[in-house]
Parts: sequence; C-alpha cells; structure tokens
Amino acid sequence: MEKFVIKGGTPLEGEVTISGAKNAAVAILPATILASGKCVIENLPCIRDVNVSLEILHALGAQIRMLDRNTYEIDTTHLTGTEVPDELSRQMRASYYFLGALLSRFGRAQVAMPGGCNLGPRPIDQHLKAFSALGAVDSVDYGMISVRAQKLTAAHIFFDKVSVGATMNGMLSAVLAEGQTVLENCAKEPHVVDLANFLNMCGADVRGAGTDVIKVRGVAQMHGCDYSIIPDQIEAGSYMVAAAATGGNVLVKNVIPKHLEPITVKLERAGAVIEEFDDAVRVSRTGELHPLKINTMPHPGFPTDMQPLMSVMLSVAKGTSTVTEGIWDNRFRYVDELARMGANIQVDGQIAVIEGVEKLQPAPLRASDLRAGAALVVAALMANGTSEISEIQHIERGYENIVEKLQALGAQITRIETHPAALSQAL
Ligand code: EPZ
Repeated sequence: MEKFVIKGGTPLEGEVTISGAKNAAVAILPATILASGKCVIENLPCIRDVNVSLEILHALGAQIRMLDRNTYEIDTTHLTGTEVPDELSRQMRASYYFLGALLSRFGRAQVAMPGGCNLGPRPIDQHLKAFSALGAVDSVDYGMISVRAQKLTAAHIFFDKVSVGATMNGMLSAVLAEGQTVLENCAKEPHVVDLANFLNMCGADVRGAGTDVIKVRGVAQMHGCDYSIIPDQIEAGSYMVAAAATGGNVLVKNVIPKHLEPITVKLERAGAVIEEFDDAVRVSRTGELHPLKINTMPHPGFPTDMQPLMSVMLSVAKGTSTVTEGIWDNRFRYVDELARMGANIQVDGQIAVIEGVEKLQPAPLRASDLRAGAALVVAALMANGTSEISEIQHIERGYENIVEKLQALGAQITRIETHPAALSQAL
C-alpha cells in the first residue's frame, strides 16, 4: 500500500494548473456511446475514475486510442455489449451513467450497484424514475441493475430531489427518445451543463441545462465530435483552500472563475484575498482566519465536495464556525482524524461546530474518501512536522498529479510504498 508523507508548515507559493473536471468526464465518456461514431475528448483528467470509464468502454467494444495523456479518441460505432463488467462498475459511483447511455442507444443495459465514496446512503431511485417515465422497466437481481425498453418515448419528469446523477441520466436516456422530454427540479452544476454541451455537439437537442428545467427534444441519431472538458471546480477549490489555509499565495490557472464563486465568497469572508482573471484566480492570505457559517447545497450553493476542505481550514480560525451538511448523511468521517491533530470539532448529526485551535499537530492519518482525503492533505500541509496519510487510493481517484502539483508549490510531499525502509528514506 502507498502513503503520502507530508512535512507541513510551509505556505504554498507559485502556480498550479487545474485539470479537466472529473464529474463531467465520468458522464461524457459514457455519453460517447450515444454518438455511435468517433469522438475526440480533450482535457480528460488522468485519474483512476477516468481510467475505469475507459476500461468499461473498451469492454463494451469501443475502439480507444490515446492521443496524449489527456486526449483520447473513442469510436463507439461497433459496440458489442450492453452489460458493464461487475468488477469495473463497482469501482466507481459514476458507472450508473452507462445505464442511461446504453438504454438510450440499445434499449437495454446492466450495471452492478455502483461503488464510490461511502458518504451514507446513495439511492438511485430518481435515475430509475426517469428511465421508467420514458418507458423502461428496471429490475435488481444479485446486486445487478438491469433496465430494458422496447421503445423510449418522451415524458414530463419531476425529480423529487435535486440530483446531479439523475439529471444527467435523465438527459442521457432522453436524447434519442421520441418527442420532447421535460426534466424539472434539475441539478445546475457546471458538469450538468458540460454534458448538455457535449450532447448538443453530437447532434442532440438539449436546452436549459444550468437551470431548473431542461428540455430534451429527441433526435433520430447522433454523431461524433471533438470536445474539451471544463476545468474541475472542486480541484480548483481544493488548491484555493490549500493556499488560504497555509497562508500562501497561489495562482490557480485554467479555471472558470464563475464556477468558483460559491467558494471564492467564503474564502474572502474567511480572510483570504482573491484576484480574478479571465481563466485564473490568485489566492493569498497574510492576516488571521475568521470563522464562518457554511451550509452545503446544490449548485449555486456551497458545494458539499468542498465541505471537508473548508472545515480543515476553519479548524484554525479565530473563533467558532458551524458547518451544516445538506447533501450527504455521512460526510464528517474525517473529523476523527482531525481530532488526532488537535482540532476541536463537535459533530451532531449533520452539523459540525468547529472551535478554532492555535495550530494542528502532525499525526498518522487515514483517508476515508476522496474529498476527506484531500482535506487531510491540506491539514498535513498546515501542521508543523511530518504526517503520513494512508488509503491514498481514494485521493488518487479524483486528483491528477497531486504530488507533483503540490511539490511545484513548495510543499514537502512524497508518495511512498509503505514498508518501513521506504518511510525512513522519505523523511
Ligand atoms: C455527484 O454525486 C458527485 N459525483 C458527488 O461528488 C457530489 O458530492 C454530488 O454529486 C453532489 O454534488 C459524481 O458526479 C460522480 P446526487 P451524485 O445524485 O450524482 C440524493 C466527489 O467527491 N439522491 O446529486 O451521486 C442523494 O442521496 C463526489 O467528487 C436520491 O435521494 O449525487 C443525495 O442526498 C462524491 N435519489 C442527494 O440526492 C437519487 O436517485 C444528491 O445526490 C439520487 C440522489
């Protein structure tokens, strides 16, 4: 097993370039199935979830050619399968997008109950509600979800809950259905808009993405296209928090500043200085950190995926912060790890009360999921001394080249194999 060894206490300084958005990539890759042709996808982050998505496409019969590290040509003209291999779909949550895409093109699909971060119950009833409204029948047997339809016909679908996944699966399953589908109470995240833009580039007719109501007029067929994925809002936010938390000065490049506004507003209130450019933001902090009240909400509210990172920063703010998690039931699991570093955080249900302490202490830490893991990296960068983080496979599912990017900002971080000799050499 691998670990990160981090010697903290140094403010981050320099420039970092943000990769393509994970949560857009993991929907757009399955969506290439709908093109029934050749797509060139640029700005794909080189991370495990993208590799798994490519492996699934390959297993289904797609021809895949790597043009460079972040660009792939994917030809879905001659797909041979509609069943996603069990061991691959279990590796990531987003394998559910293959249900919508395969159902749409072939009228049937089978995917194992998706894996991914353990954030509490993660139902997919709203995805199935959309498929069923369009005329599909679903069944769950031995952990496998199957959907099947003779024909998909447009419908009016009102989601009972704002869901990124259900909104995207709603679009995927409706693009080739006969007539105009109306999706209401939709998620408005930047990756929802990115998927709609990709589908439209392939000949679909999707309007209103980024608002509560999305209208999808079914088209007879789609085609391939060249498409570049948007920058990752949460990766950008993670480096912004790391800069502010360590009292550094970092230019975060290749971002869409508008997507970062919910994060920017909170960081400014906490005492960071943020300068916006066309496709970059500079984050710096010299004064003390102020406490905040944060409620996580669907976009354009404060993103749940930034919650663990912000809480880490607030653990050394001057005063009491409250953080309310409004999306997931179980997203405070990293708090026990922070307590080992001397943080003072009380969690009651969905609310964390954070009493700022003077300093975090280094400690051995364990990443419990992707964003919790990234938050622990920031915590270790803030602490004077050497911390180790295990279970880093969670972090590497979502952050491209995190070690190299942080090293370029002056961080002392190394990735090691966890046998004792390697550890002593790293320090
Ligand atoms: C996406 O998950 C992201 N994952 C998550 O990011 C992110 O935390 C989440 O959206 C919220 O922004 C991907 O895009 C792959 P949801 P998703 O459906 O689509 C409930 C990360 O760290 N719900 O918007 O699975 C659900 O329980 C990951 O990158 C239903 O009740 O999230 C939750 O309370 C972690 N029924 C809420 O809706 C459903 O059918 C929002 O979930 C679907 C969801």
